[in-house]
Amino acid sequence: MTQHTHDGGTHQHGDQQGRLNLHEDAGNAVDMWDGMYRERSKIWSGNPNPQLVAEAGNLPLGTALDLGCGEGGDAIWLARKGWRVTAVDVSSVALERGAAHAAENGQEERITWQQQDLAEWTPEPVFDLVSAQFLHSPLLPWQDSTAKAAAAVAPGGTLLIVGHHPHGLAPWSHHHESDMFYTPEELAEALDLKTGPWTVEVLEARERTIESPEGTPATILDTVLRATKNA
Ligand SMILES: C[S@@+](CC[C@H](N)C(=O)[O-])C[C@H]1O[C@@H](n2cnc3c(N)ncnc32)[C@H](O)[C@@H]1O
Repeated sequence: MTQHTHDGGTHQHGDQQGRLNLHEDAGNAVDMWDGMYRERSKIWSGNPNPQLVAEAGNLPLGTALDLGCGEGGDAIWLARKGWRVTAVDVSSVALERGAAHAAENGQEERITWQQQDLAEWTPEPVFDLVSAQFLHSPLLPWQDSTAKAAAAVAPGGTLLIVGHHPHGLAPWSHHHESDMFYTPEELAEALDLKTGPWTVEVLEARERTIESPEGTPATILDTVLRATKNA
């Protein structure tokens, strides 16, 4: 089985864990992502993503949807803040780890874990916050996943999308030609932010310093969007 290294910029919440081996010939998203998660007992740091902390820390509490939640670091951080969280991922391996981690942290009551493939499933448009952090997959066009994220925001709610910027990937990335990543301008156009029901609070390419697994520092760019859906 060939393996592909997905290391667009190491979005391991600022830590130095290794690169991701995506089994792209697995044929479906469940096998591909379960395979990636099974390679190690823990892939992510467990810490929340820095742009989530920066952008969601002062929002009024309510219901949150974390799309592509992985092992649950963001969902647990949101729950601790007081959100009621629906955490969705295609990988049951990741979700089981998230649920276990939430129980260890006393947050199991506030988080519902759901296995769904966003290629086929559409969330209800009811959430006060929809967060999609680095929801990059070779089997899921970012235009589709971000559109579903936007549609899931309730009127008055917040959309928070964070992804790797294609011109600000880690130097060691193997994905410099990948179409999995997007600029703020591409995201704004795909989501029709100018003419749609949105008040855009943040739309930018934001620098972040990371380290390779070997400890080499690099500055990468995150595409960050925070917008409110007009009521
Ligand atoms: C690059 S990881 C990011 C995980 C987490 N948001 C974070 O920042 O650490 C992408 C996540 O999206 C999930 N994912 C990929 N394709 C998906 C799909 N079609 N439906 C739902 N989740 C998906 C993967 O299982 C993985 O956990």
